[in-house]
Amino acid sequence: MGLATFEATANIAVAKYWGKRDEKLILPKEGSLSFTMDDQLKTRTSVLFSPALKEDEFWLNGKKMDMADKDTAERLQQIEIIRQKAGIKDKAKIVSLNCFPTAAGFASSAAGLAALACAASKAAGLDLSTEELSILARLGSGSACRSVLGGFVEWKKGIKPDGSDSYAEQIAPASRWPELRNVIAIGDSGKKKVSSRAGMKQTVATSALYPARLAYMPKLITDMKAAVAAKDFAKFGELTMRESSNMHAVMLDTWPPIMYLNDVSKRIIYAVHDYNAAAGGIVAAYTFDAGPNAHVYTTEERVPALRKMLSEIEGVEKTMVCKVGEGPKQLKEGHLLSPDGTVLKHRFDEASGKIIIE
Ligand code: DP6
Repeated sequence: MGLATFEATANIAVAKYWGKRDEKLILPKEGSLSFTMDDQLKTRTSVLFSPALKEDEFWLNGKKMDMADKDTAERLQQIEIIRQKAGIKDKAKIVSLNCFPTAAGFASSAAGLAALACAASKAAGLDLSTEELSILARLGSGSACRSVLGGFVEWKKGIKPDGSDSYAEQIAPASRWPELRNVIAIGDSGKKKVSSRAGMKQTVATSALYPARLAYMPKLITDMKAAVAAKDFAKFGELTMRESSNMHAVMLDTWPPIMYLNDVSKRIIYAVHDYNAAAGGIVAAYTFDAGPNAHVYTTEERVPALRKMLSEIEGVEKTMVCKVGEGPKQLKEGHLLSPDGTVLKHRFDEASGKIIIE
């Protein structure tokens, strides 16, 4: 017991979670599927439980966060559950650093809350199963429950009111489709106008199209799993793009409307269709989350040409290429705080991709 440090990475869904059936326990209306990304999109989190600490403390990207803030408190509800499971009363000190390129404009919650579940449970002396870790991460942010595993991951929606059957499972390890890539095209690094949490709640409450989305999701999930199992990119790509559009359609159908796609996103959509037409089949597939940046899945040999094509689109400021990642890992050194509770001076050096601890 004491101090533990983990790194976890973001995941990008191809069958997306958009809507809860329980706001507090973060239980989804439907299941979802994603690929966990490699450590270019990682968060490192150190957690210390100690009787010497007077109160819970949370540091994010070098800043001490206000624990009285409702959003922060909601996201950290797993800490109290971990204390109960471990039978301890010690306060926790949490130090977390997002190592995403600053221009990337990613919501970092999935990587951060998955790393927190792993680090906090280990620091409390618990040795939890991936199901238990996934449930803890889910309580901070739904999509985080998928980041406790690497490769191709399914979040099973579950049916129990207490959420004990709503967790992620690995469908295939990263090595199943090693040539798969996500070419990310970044055109806007501003903070999103409507959070996923608020946006999906509004969609569930107001969209007349949303029931049709829920009706189509189970078959989408079955078909997507079959396409990935067969490594059938054309099928996978079509399903991925149509699913992204389906989610953005119910967002637009929300009242008041929610629009995460911008003109750059739209140019990317058309350009990917032109690119596929020129290739004579689907070889690249975009998907957009609650933001305007494109994640374009493709295979390794296509990356140079696709990346060039995307980077030449008006408004695309940066591109990066991610592989599928292996999931969270525990670090034996490189802690962001010392066992006596001192927060070490740390920062992410974008040029080298390394965390500098002084
Ligand atoms: C569009 O997991 O951020 O990225 O559970 O309220 O924290 P909360 O929402 P969050 O929503 C992610 C939505 C999405 C789709 C997905 O990742 O499946």
